[in-house]
Amino acid sequence: MKKLLVLMGSPRKGETYKAAQMLGEAFNKIEPVELEYIFLNKVGFGDCLGCHNCILKGEDRCYQKDLVQELYSRIEKADGIILASPVYNQHVTAIMKRFLDYFTYLWHRPALFGKVFFGVSSGGGMFKDVFKLMKTNVESWGGVWAGSLGIPHYEALTPKFQQKVDADVPKKAEIFVKAMNATKLPSPSFGQLMMFNVWKMNAVACKDSNPKDYAFWTQKELFDKAYYYKTKIGFFKGLAVKLTVMLARFYMKKVYVGY
Ligand SMILES: Cc1cc2nc3c(=O)[nH]c(=O)nc-3n(C[C@H](O)[C@H](O)[C@H](O)COP(=O)(O)O)c2cc1C
Repeated sequence: MKKLLVLMGSPRKGETYKAAQMLGEAFNKIEPVELEYIFLNKVGFGDCLGCHNCILKGEDRCYQKDLVQELYSRIEKADGIILASPVYNQHVTAIMKRFLDYFTYLWHRPALFGKVFFGVSSGGGMFKDVFKLMKTNVESWGGVWAGSLGIPHYEALTPKFQQKVDADVPKKAEIFVKAMNATKLPSPSFGQLMMFNVWKMNAVACKDSNPKDYAFWTQKELFDKAYYYKTKIGFFKGLAVKLTVMLARFYMKKVYVGY
């Protein structure tokens, strides 16, 4: 049986919880699954102190390292992860944002390659920014963003719109299952390739101020690689990346010292 870890950014078992349950039930109709919830407001970490230790010295130097590493190992062990947050002030909740902040070091040193994530939200609408932030984080950590499900206040919907949601959920579950059963790592998008190259530039330029990143790139022998893992990159995509990286380097040289 597959295990889905739901990282819950709502402080209660409300609409977002129901939306995650709906996705889980639809998933279960395709393949047996068990949902495990972590209510992120109960994890017990305070705000990020902004010490930058996780980025510059290592994630083991965070003042909340035990809680962060415990969450990380739960993510690693899960077959798939649901990031769930209601829309608050047109975005994720502070609870979800705080969780994302603690994993910022993974932008610098991604590790969750092949781990599949799905976004779930509830609210009046305006899910776009919620999912955009989740997706950007997941992809920067090395994970796979399979898709998202935003459910507007279900009880208040007209029967026609309820039917639309009812039809949408199994389709989303199917996409999630498919991504989790994929045997190959996905081919990176143009944006992901650009991020890889910009982090490569940063690792060299900030060698002295951020030795942790430089060590990561050196130990993993990434400097000569086209991406974090072996993958096919189409000719035109590769060319577009090369040209854009040249422009990015030109810009960085103009603005920052060391590039
Ligand atoms: C502080 C706060 C801010 C909210 N801001 C928005 C918003 O900007 N847009 C929106 O559509 N709904 C907003 N809502 C409504 C919630 O997104 C909606 O009720 C959601 O389903 C609650 O999820 P929950 O039951 O899991 O807590 C807000 C609710 C709260 C409590």
